[in-house]
Amino acid sequence: MITIRRADKEDLRNLSRKLLTLLKDEESQVFREEAAKFGVPRSYIMKVFSEAALLEAADKRNATFHIALEGGEIIGFAETIKLDDHTAELDRLIVFPPWRGRGVGTSLLHKALADMKKQGVKMVTVNVGRDEVQARRFYEKNGFEGTEERTVEAPWGREIALVIYRRRL
Ligand SMILES: CC(C)(COP(=O)(O)OP(=O)(O)OC[C@H]1O[C@@H](n2cnc3c(N)ncnc32)[C@H](O)[C@@H]1OP(=O)(O)O)[C@@H](O)C(=O)NCCC(=O)NCCS
Repeated sequence: MITIRRADKEDLRNLSRKLLTLLKDEESQVFREEAAKFGVPRSYIMKVFSEAALLEAADKRNATFHIALEGGEIIGFAETIKLDDHTAELDRLIVFPPWRGRGVGTSLLHKALADMKKQGVKMVTVNVGRDEVQARRFYEKNGFEGTEERTVEAPWGREIALVIYRRRL
């Protein structure tokens, strides 16, 4: 049975371990989607998903993590960051490849949005790569509207074309 809950500190340590294991393999689908596709250097992506970075995001950057579990194993997560009293950004939503297409991403998204709504958030944004057709379809099916296209320079120096999606809560 798949369950979804808000992550505690121990969950974040386990999540980091899982992500770093997947990212160690540069041929893995997760490395290709999260790093190679956007030219993210290996050292940068390993730092982003380190235990210290996830704990710091939760402690100091107003980030909330929800995890999906099956039989105690983490199979996906959502990270939302509260930007101010009424707005939040869905910073990451990842379902690990073997578990995709079964509704886990939708459930994670709805849990994360419900939690934001409870905290008074009225508008959630998410930045999606312009060419990420599947992810864009996913957000459109879930009530998000692509409002703006923007090209940003990523911290590792590469220009990335994004679509800013928004959804009112
Ligand atoms: C986008 C993502 C979170 C969806 O999770 P999921 O558990 O597969 O989604 P669900 O089963 O709830 O919904 C399925 C829908 O997601 C979309 N989708 C995106 N990628 C998919 C994939 N690899 N397999 C199946 N569906 C996918 C489709 O629109 C699908 O709709 P359909 O059934 O009409 O074809 C997941 O595919 C993922 O982790 N992708 C890589 C990371 C990413 O792109 N994140 C979003 C950008 S921040």
